[in-house]
Amino acid sequence: MWRILVIQALTRIPAWMVLGALGNPYAIGLSGGIQWILLLIYWWLRRPLLPRTWLILHFVIGFLCSIALLYTIPSGLYALFALGVYLIQGRTDRDRVPLYFSSQDVMSTLSALLAEERGVFFDLGCGDGRILSYLSRRHPHWVFKGYELALLPWLMACWRCRNCANVQILRSNFWSAPMDEADVSYCFLSPEPMRLIGEQFRSSAKKGCLLVSNSFEIMDMKPVQVIPVKGLLQHDLYVYTC
Ligand SMILES: C[S@@+](CC[C@H](N)C(=O)[O-])C[C@H]1O[C@@H](n2cnc3c(N)ncnc32)[C@H](O)[C@@H]1O
Repeated sequence: MWRILVIQALTRIPAWMVLGALGNPYAIGLSGGIQWILLLIYWWLRRPLLPRTWLILHFVIGFLCSIALLYTIPSGLYALFALGVYLIQGRTDRDRVPLYFSSQDVMSTLSALLAEERGVFFDLGCGDGRILSYLSRRHPHWVFKGYELALLPWLMACWRCRNCANVQILRSNFWSAPMDEADVSYCFLSPEPMRLIGEQFRSSAKKGCLLVSNSFEIMDMKPVQVIPVKGLLQHDLYVYTC
């Protein structure tokens, strides 16, 4: 997060200088253009390390800053926005895992993976609990545990699963989840935590159990199965075992 702010601030300084010198509404557009050129140069110089999404993200933030300059926006609105982001996304600045949801196809594929009569299933970062609610109805003898830190998704998961006797929703960090209790652990996170998730799985999971990762591979582990799935921002389920 702080890196985004530093880059935005540094590329804004020359843009602000132009704005200060000209001081008319057209200068806002011009200053935005200058910032975009600086961002483009920085991205070009560091290209192998910075994905194209980095550039798009900074362009969008830069554009929103220019729009904000055009209007007198009460400062309280910024604070409200930050609070909203925190309630929905939790500490995404630290964990690098935003909120998005598994598709229906993923849920039915997961259901097919629960072949045993009974077992324990963990959803590491369970969002609004849709997976747990779906699976718990189809596998009444399994125990389902969801770990979620962000307040609003956690509340939604509790509400969604309120009548599911075999589901427990914990407002807890998945890094402290007792992986040795699970027969199947599922996650849909981001590239960032995958190496550590792999380490946690290898060091604490019991023999023969599964870790299913939606769309994000663990680079230093070989999946025993890769199952193509359909859905927004998702393509494959990587199944690991130990
Ligand atoms: C991409 S969403 C996936 C939601 C759900 N599992 C699904 O597939 O529909 C990832 C979730 O993980 C949560 N999360 C991120 N880091 C976490 C952590 N350290 N402990 C618990 N939850 C976390 C986020 O708040 C977010 O709701």
